[in-house]
Amino acid sequence: MATDRSDIFVFFGATGDLAHKKIFPALQTMIHAGELDMPIIGIARERWSLDQFRQRARDSLEKHGGIDAQAFKKLSEQLQLVHGDYNDPATYSRLKQAMGGAARPLHYMAIPPSLFATVVQELARAGCAKGARIIIEKPFARDLDSARALNRTLHEFFPESAIFRIDHYLGKEAVQNLLYFRFANTFLEPVWNRTYVDSVQITMAENFGVQGRGSFYEEAGAMRDVVQNHLLQVIALLAMDVPAGHDAASMRAEKLRLFRAMRPLYPKQVVRGQFRGYRDEKGVAPDSQVETFAALRLHIDTWRWAGVPFYIRAGKYMPISSTEVMVDLKRPPMAVFDKITPSESNYFRFRLSPEVVISAGARVKQPGEAMRGKAVELVVRHQPPSEELPYQRLLGDAIRGDAALFTSDEGVEAAWAVVDPALGSAEPVHEYEPGSWGPPAAAGIVVSNEGWHDPKPEETTPC
Ligand code: BG6
Repeated sequence: MATDRSDIFVFFGATGDLAHKKIFPALQTMIHAGELDMPIIGIARERWSLDQFRQRARDSLEKHGGIDAQAFKKLSEQLQLVHGDYNDPATYSRLKQAMGGAARPLHYMAIPPSLFATVVQELARAGCAKGARIIIEKPFARDLDSARALNRTLHEFFPESAIFRIDHYLGKEAVQNLLYFRFANTFLEPVWNRTYVDSVQITMAENFGVQGRGSFYEEAGAMRDVVQNHLLQVIALLAMDVPAGHDAASMRAEKLRLFRAMRPLYPKQVVRGQFRGYRDEKGVAPDSQVETFAALRLHIDTWRWAGVPFYIRAGKYMPISSTEVMVDLKRPPMAVFDKITPSESNYFRFRLSPEVVISAGARVKQPGEAMRGKAVELVVRHQPPSEELPYQRLLGDAIRGDAALFTSDEGVEAAWAVVDPALGSAEPVHEYEPGSWGPPAAAGIVVSNEGWHDPKPEETTPC
């Protein structure tokens, strides 16, 4: 595998939403940190001038994180724009010319998945794929079959070691912290199994809708947009066994074993919801059955996790924006002092977004004569990292050729195999009120203890 640094950064979809929200801010931060000293070429269908393109970058930064005058000046100087249709070979000839003598390009596909195959074929035909790495944005295809087909196409032109399937959740500080916490502490391992863990929950709640991305969302829905990738990846980090090292191959191998042990989901294990008003969004069919909410119960057939339910819930227009994992432990085998209800038993809580929090729920004695206790939380809270950090981290890794935080072909296919049987569900979506925790039917997914844990506003003082 090539381990040399890439020498030019090319991004497709340069005038799109992802570039505006995440890529320009990451590029500016990388330039500020001295990590991106190379030409940057944007490819877009719009026939914009370079000045218009720079203006777009400025607008992106003003709205997402602010302008850093020095870094922005450099970014503007490094930027070039190649316009053209992604189906037109002339676009790629122009790109080849703009790339000059670059020998190790990094091509970033910030475009809809339906275009990936065309773009890689045309890149190869124009000679732009030689020595190159490629970054593919999620969702990686639509289902298991199309993921296999996409991997076959990619492999025709790029070796697996040059393909970087990006899932920005894996670049999040809180997700890295979760991984670190699991394998850097001895006290966790003895309880991290079916003997002590009652159930595991992850909720990814967003207090906004589809934000003008109606037509993208119609193609995806919550299952494809965040469950198949972000949330299954987090479950894999929570549940996998210790990797032999923290190199890409060891991490991928352990995650793959875990994905393969997840039982495929059947429609009965999933409740799909749609917020009232979704069908009025631009680009959404008036009779759309696409889910903006999904709640599901997952089983992992390993010695460690057999019988422990893993619950996943993701939704738009929830009461709060927050992603939180709760690992609920079983109650002590007998009540020596006061009686402990399931909701008062020990737990670990990982707040992954927007704050970075790890806490342990414990019981302590209340002051006084009686041996009566109360629930407390032992909390470690970090300042929220900046929004662009995941992309900065992951783009930097791809430039260096470090694939540890990227998903492999087998990993992606194994994750699709888990959700695939539930994708074609004929069950109609349940409507829910914007600002609620989804349709009431979602309550039926949780069979243990107290039901769903709804994330609450977090205190903001760092500990
Ligand atoms: C994206 C999804 O991958 O992740 C969006 O397409 C979602 O629908 C977003 O809103 C959430 O990521 P973050 O980092 O903004 O919480």
